[in-house]
Amino acid sequence: MCGIVGYTGKRAAMPIILEGLKKLEYRGYDSAGISTLHHNELTHVKALGKLIALEEQLAQEPLAGSIGIGHTRWATHGKPSVPNAHPHVVGTTAIVHNGIIENYKSLRTELEAHGSQFLSETDTETVAHLLHVHRRETLLETLFAILPMIRGAYSIAAIDTRDPHTLVCVKQESPLVIGLGKNENFVASDIPALLAHTRDFIFLEDGDVAAITPESVSIYHHGQPVERPIKTVSWSPSAAEKGGYKHFMLKEIHEQPRALRDTLRGKFDGKTLQLSDLALTPQEVASIRRIQLVACGTSWHAGLVGKYYLEQIARIPVEVDIASEYRYRTKVVDSSTLVVPITQSGETADTLAALKDAKREGAKVITVCNVVDSSIVRESHGVLYTNAGPEIGVASTKAFTTQLAALYLLALFIAQEQKRLDSAAIAEHIAQLEALPAVIETVLEREEEYKNFAHTFHDYPNFLFLGRSFNFPIALEGALKLKEISYIHAEGYASGEMKHGPIALIDAQMPVVVVATASAVYDKLVSNVEEVAARDGIVVALVNDADTSWGKKAHTVFRVPEVPEMLSPIVNAVPMQFIAYYVADFKGCDVDQPRNLAKSVTVE
Ligand code: F6R
Repeated sequence: MCGIVGYTGKRAAMPIILEGLKKLEYRGYDSAGISTLHHNELTHVKALGKLIALEEQLAQEPLAGSIGIGHTRWATHGKPSVPNAHPHVVGTTAIVHNGIIENYKSLRTELEAHGSQFLSETDTETVAHLLHVHRRETLLETLFAILPMIRGAYSIAAIDTRDPHTLVCVKQESPLVIGLGKNENFVASDIPALLAHTRDFIFLEDGDVAAITPESVSIYHHGQPVERPIKTVSWSPSAAEKGGYKHFMLKEIHEQPRALRDTLRGKFDGKTLQLSDLALTPQEVASIRRIQLVACGTSWHAGLVGKYYLEQIARIPVEVDIASEYRYRTKVVDSSTLVVPITQSGETADTLAALKDAKREGAKVITVCNVVDSSIVRESHGVLYTNAGPEIGVASTKAFTTQLAALYLLALFIAQEQKRLDSAAIAEHIAQLEALPAVIETVLEREEEYKNFAHTFHDYPNFLFLGRSFNFPIALEGALKLKEISYIHAEGYASGEMKHGPIALIDAQMPVVVVATASAVYDKLVSNVEEVAARDGIVVALVNDADTSWGKKAHTVFRVPEVPEMLSPIVNAVPMQFIAYYVADFKGCDVDQPRNLAKSVTVE
């Protein structure tokens, strides 16, 4: 999830682009750069770290010109470094890119075989070389020529010395808007970057290509000119940062279909699942006999679901540890033990310490992480990135569901390498995973139901969340989400465990949220709920669309489409997030920055 800003007009491009990039700071920074075109010459400046580093460098070496592109990077392919920062310049063209080019490896091999010399590890540079190698009369024609060669989700903006007033861009499953000015026009990945200059925007559609000059905007789809409506945006700058949502958490809940698609993207070629960043040799995967998942908070809940995945799919015994506990217990690990820290930030102190201990004892360590080249990634032998994009809200949402998808991929990968699953079986699992974003879109469309529920229930002092099997961790996660952002006391329990104590809590004041989607233990869970209902507990059930049996048993019924049981936690997490979000919002809590909490816990 990078930020893009481009300008073509009569004013100096550099300050406009730099100011625009600053407005995208919430997208996360690891490096940034700007390229402008002046007197038929391309110049660029790139810097590692936050935008201030770029700003300082530009103060030393300002860029002249009234056309340019800029970029803030959230690394996906290649660690944060100056060579990996955008723009990438090859020949007469400079480009910036947001997204993932799925087939960049094979393209790069081919380009290198024909003499292209790469300076970075990025997928983006592949596009820059393609534009150079296949150049036609204009940049626009060149872009048309190379687009059929690239696969993935991307938005790209480019400038070229051969066409010194034209910005060219393309959007494919990654955001890109055109801002309209007077004798000047803009392009950006997000509206906030341009609000200081315009309120009139064209929202490009997937597959759109645009050629933008100071006086004109021409848009093409499948090579044919098309008209797109101009929309006037009335958002305040702070609402614009949140994509028009009231809070980052709500925005991030809604980003989950995209985040899941990006996590799955480019891993399966129709025959083989490839997780090359794991950096494990076939022998190393073959020798895995035990797995330890280590994490904190929500990431630990992801680990609890991951245990089910790894044991059921890969048939390897798994332990799941809270990192702050793992650090101080005797660790029985050896070279056949795979230790998997799970962490959104890659900076959690307890998880980092646990990892170092495990490494010292001789374990192989591969991390499931959302932040490229974070401290924990750097300490690990390999990594599986979640590609959720920066998560700003303190309460983890899209990082969690993408962690579940990543752990599912890990289980499939080990099963594949240990010859437990053949390619057809893997393909079937992948197809089921790939169907999830659309299912989650359906759940998101039902948002209003959760808001109505929260309106009635936000004053209750206690909540209980129940689940079983794959969805027991979802009950834990539902309770954690609610308590951390609404400050309501909530507990998550395995429903079969109720009778061993917590049932004493049930009375007519206790909402009990039950995750009751289709499962092998559905009937058992229903009997547990009968026990709750018999004690006047307020049953709030999350069930599948086709399940009509809850009318009498439950006070409120939420429905989600049915998916295979193993994948149901990924879908069921979303209603838990909505319940917590709307309850907290009705209570007037600071949803994105709850009291006493920090996004990264970098102290013990
Ligand atoms: C809860 C939450 C925290 C984090 C935990 C670990 O919504 O976000 O419980 O999951 O602090 O953080 P990471 O995953 O960054 O290691």
